[in-house]
Amino acid sequence: MYLMILGAPGSGKGTQGKLLAEFLRVPEVSTGELLRTAVKQGTPLGKQAKTYMERGELVPDEVVLGLIEEILDSREAARGVMMDGFPRTVAQAKAVDALLASKQAKVDRVVLLDVAEEELIKRLLARAAKEGRSDDNLESIKTRLKVYHDQTQPLIAYYEKRGVVRRVPGMGSVDDIQKRAREALKA
Ligand code: AP5
Ligand code: MG
Repeated sequence: MYLMILGAPGSGKGTQGKLLAEFLRVPEVSTGELLRTAVKQGTPLGKQAKTYMERGELVPDEVVLGLIEEILDSREAARGVMMDGFPRTVAQAKAVDALLASKQAKVDRVVLLDVAEEELIKRLLARAAKEGRSDDNLESIKTRLKVYHDQTQPLIAYYEKRGVVRRVPGMGSVDDIQKRAREALKA
């Protein structure tokens, strides 16, 4: 099963995606996590991505597409994957479609986490105080929210046409949200 977890920055993609992946026994892959590791290690990919990520802008499609291709071609992804943070643009969605089609697969479900904007900002600023992620500052958070609205939200319509989107209210406790997500995936 190939799933995608979609939602604004701070909506809980990482938190809920990991739990869902365990439950469904598929690997969870986050382009954000992979890129942050590349930045820390100072690899060529990390060097290309760093400034975009700090500002809260998307890393250009051509930079990220190689990474996505590598993920979907890996042996771990052969029977499915929980995709956190990609695709993020229509161009990336088309690339994912083509890569999956080449293995007679498709995006089976999109879990869409619905969280109010004040709550997103509150969560990200709380994490800033604890973890110091370089894009968890008010200016970058605002950019991330705008980028989500302009470039990633169009994917909702893209996948809704195929009937694969499952909307999950993303406020409340982590456990309650997880229950809702599992329930939503039954349909
Ligand atoms: P990415 O790492 O994907 O970040 P994001 O979309 O901004 O989202 P976050 O990881 O901040 O939030 P989340 O939705 O995962 O929520 P989480 O579970 O962490 O991307 C980062 C950057 O990388 C991008 O801006 C871009 O530059 C680049 N990038 C990545 N992928 C790319 C792509 N495909 N193409 C181009 N560029 C790409 O939760 C957030 C916080 O809230 C945590 O502290 C958590 O503990 C807390 N929390 C979770 N659930 C709850 C709850 N129910 N109640 C209270 N707090 C909660
Ligand atoms: Mg995340």
